[in-house]
Amino acid sequence: MSNILRRGRLEAAPDKEILHYTSSMEADRWIFNADIAVDLAHTVMLREQGIIKEEDCGKILSGLLKIREEGMEKLDFSYEDIHISLESRLIDMVGEDVGGRMHSGRSRNDEVATCIRLTLREELTGLLEELFALRKTLVTLAGKHTETLMPGFTHLQHAQPTTLAHHLCAHEAALGRDFDRVQDAFSRVNLCPLGAAAFASTGFNLNRKRTQELLGFDGLLENSMDAVSSRDFLIECASVFSNLMINLSRMAEELVIWSSSEFNFIELDDMYASTSSIMPQKKNPDTAELMRGKTGVAVGTLMSLLTICKGLPLSYNRDLQEATPNIWRSVENSRASARVMEGMVRTMKIHKDVLAAQSTTGFTTATELADTFVRETGIPFRTAHQIVGILAKEMEKPTMEKIDSVAEVVLGESLSSRGLTEKMVKEALDPVSNITRRKIAGGPAPEEMQHYLGKRQTELELNEQEIATLKDSIDSAFENLLAVVEEYRKA
Ligand code: ARG
Repeated sequence: MSNILRRGRLEAAPDKEILHYTSSMEADRWIFNADIAVDLAHTVMLREQGIIKEEDCGKILSGLLKIREEGMEKLDFSYEDIHISLESRLIDMVGEDVGGRMHSGRSRNDEVATCIRLTLREELTGLLEELFALRKTLVTLAGKHTETLMPGFTHLQHAQPTTLAHHLCAHEAALGRDFDRVQDAFSRVNLCPLGAAAFASTGFNLNRKRTQELLGFDGLLENSMDAVSSRDFLIECASVFSNLMINLSRMAEELVIWSSSEFNFIELDDMYASTSSIMPQKKNPDTAELMRGKTGVAVGTLMSLLTICKGLPLSYNRDLQEATPNIWRSVENSRASARVMEGMVRTMKIHKDVLAAQSTTGFTTATELADTFVRETGIPFRTAHQIVGILAKEMEKPTMEKIDSVAEVVLGESLSSRGLTEKMVKEALDPVSNITRRKIAGGPAPEEMQHYLGKRQTELELNEQEIATLKDSIDSAFENLLAVVEEYRKA
């Protein structure tokens, strides 16, 4: 049949190139299921409001379920988007006198905005699950390494001893905030634009609350012009994904460094490695490198979204079609990266002996030595800092004698005369004792880490509950929609 959209106002059909240029059909694969759900909910509401007849409603609903079963492939890809292609398929099935009534009081503008939000909501839920799994893996691994010594870095220079648990938990804490940000973004995604129609709402007596409920949205995007025009929710999500990807990229970067011969802290599982086509000995951390690279893509999609939306007048503009695929690329990348990182971390081999040996390389206990001088002899920290700095410059293991001779120069008296003993020095230079002393909130002392890990566990349990509640409410809304559809189909 002829194009149901263009047969009125327009004559010339777009040629292949223009169709390819203007069509969103390929990207609309993402919203196929959502579009069916939106059509079902809208049709149910039209009937309940007496806008379409019971028998027409039944036929439309049956047609929609059939189209859902057939899948996206059965649709006509010569249409410019899924909405009109799907309507055309429905009209093919049930005739225009019935199927032609479905789009009453609706525009593709509110339709597409609703579809994007429905799909994105599912994706965000999936991402929450994946982030949860990654955080859980980090916390579990940390639980096994509260006493695994390693050097901590600043400026990528050995700085102070810490533990692997402490380091892993630092990443987990950042990912915990990403988790919170996804939840927060969810609350602004899960709002319903349907009923806004083209932008000025409609003279049909639609029940917007009803479609909102049938689709399991938490509320309405009330102003009908805002509802079809705004894509700030996409910008917000792309920003959340960028932040997450940057956190993952920093982890990936460490995995790359840590698996180098220079560091040799870990070995990634072969599954995540590649080799060279010429250098047979190579084991390269390609998967982690790609994660760094994909972060660039995530940030790029955010820039695309910002730039596409900038300067658009109200209300709907077709430019917005160009915005949507960016969010799919970004969410797909983010979700995959969270899953892959979980596997990489869970399966990596940890070289505890190297980590422990390196924990004191570069005089990482210098801070503790200076602190010991302060605590035991009462000298100011700045003076202790100078003494230890001079000792560090000489790069010798500081003996009591050496300490005293430097102190004589700096202070005019020895530190042993102020009560410093060899035992105190020895303890200050011991990485284990360094760790054990750092037991204030958030420090690496095993005792404090255990306490911290307990709190993270509790937080994770709470998050698990929150995900379950979210999934439940989405699932039960969808089940309810299908139940109502079944009932109206039979009537
Ligand atoms: N494919 C379009 C989009 O993604 C559908 C929305 C409405 N199209 C229109 N010409 N008003 O934005």
